[in-house]
Amino acid sequence: MCILAQVLNSGLELVLLLIRRELIDLYQQSDNGSYTMTDSPAQPVLQTQGMSKSFRGLQALQDINLTLHPGEIMGVIGPNGAGKTTFFNCLTGYLRPSAGKVLFKGRDITGQHPPVVARLGIARTFQNIRLFGALSVLDNVRVAQQLRTQFSLIEVLTTLPSFSCKERALVEAARAHLDLFGLADDADREAMNLPYGAQRRLEIARALATGPDVLLLDEPAAGMNASETDTLHQMILQMRERFKLSIIMVEHDMRLIMGLCERITVLNYGRVLAVGKPDEIRQNEAVIESYLGKRSKKTAKSGS
Ligand SMILES: Nc1ncnc2c1ncn2[C@@H]1O[C@H](COP(=O)(O)OP(=O)(O)OP(=O)(O)O)[C@@H](O)[C@H]1O
Ligand SMILES: [Mg+2]
Repeated sequence: MCILAQVLNSGLELVLLLIRRELIDLYQQSDNGSYTMTDSPAQPVLQTQGMSKSFRGLQALQDINLTLHPGEIMGVIGPNGAGKTTFFNCLTGYLRPSAGKVLFKGRDITGQHPPVVARLGIARTFQNIRLFGALSVLDNVRVAQQLRTQFSLIEVLTTLPSFSCKERALVEAARAHLDLFGLADDADREAMNLPYGAQRRLEIARALATGPDVLLLDEPAAGMNASETDTLHQMILQMRERFKLSIIMVEHDMRLIMGLCERITVLNYGRVLAVGKPDEIRQNEAVIESYLGKRSKKTAKSGS
């Protein structure tokens, strides 16, 4: 009995050591070597094939064929109501496409539920920030980490040493993670009491704590001033390197989109109007007519 207990104990310690190593590795990856589109193998990381979505007669998306390469930052732009958020909702299981497929690393994930999609490796933020407002900043990240941490029922009920050891490792990793986003000093604050820009950063930090391969950002710069947007720009580039991410970003801020994205997809009335590099999109007549032209007139009128 005593020997059995010792064997079990050593086994547990080994598992804990491995979990700890994995978590620390995840948060302390070196910045050596750049992760960009040029590293991409042939297979797209994310792909939609003929994806459509209608809401009682309203065709919000129609025949969307989009390919995201490993390491790529793709922008999605278009007028209000063009279908950008609906597109994200269909990718992440918040909505089921009416037709077509979503493929993640070649696997059909169409219509999978959001927690399944998140576990597979697609994380997202929301146009209207969705944090656990009453929880601390640290706990918002810890909740996301749980997606990849296994506690056995026995560990939880008996609070075995392994349980507290895993807990300690999680807290340590969560604090290191917050540090990357300039939020370490706010760890114990309630999320709802953070300034707006910090809430946006926390939402991204929480999404990344799930350990995704693909990150979808829905208007991450909304409500930010120019200097906050510049910080966000740098942060997204650093995140791609550190976490080996492929990113799709929906944004109305053209300076951010044009400066950050390798390719841009333009949606209009639920259809793809154009796909191309920033310079190609800037000069595309149809895009200027339906979106960019209107935006510059609006900016000129408002004087901003
Ligand atoms: N759950 C829903 N039920 C019914 N209609 C919806 C639903 N979600 C979106 N729509 C409609 O689908 C269209 C696309 O909306 P969506 O929110 O995707 O646009 P968007 O491009 O994200 O716009 P914005 O730039 O304003 O965020 C709109 O006409 C919208 O009213
Ligand atoms: Mg939207």
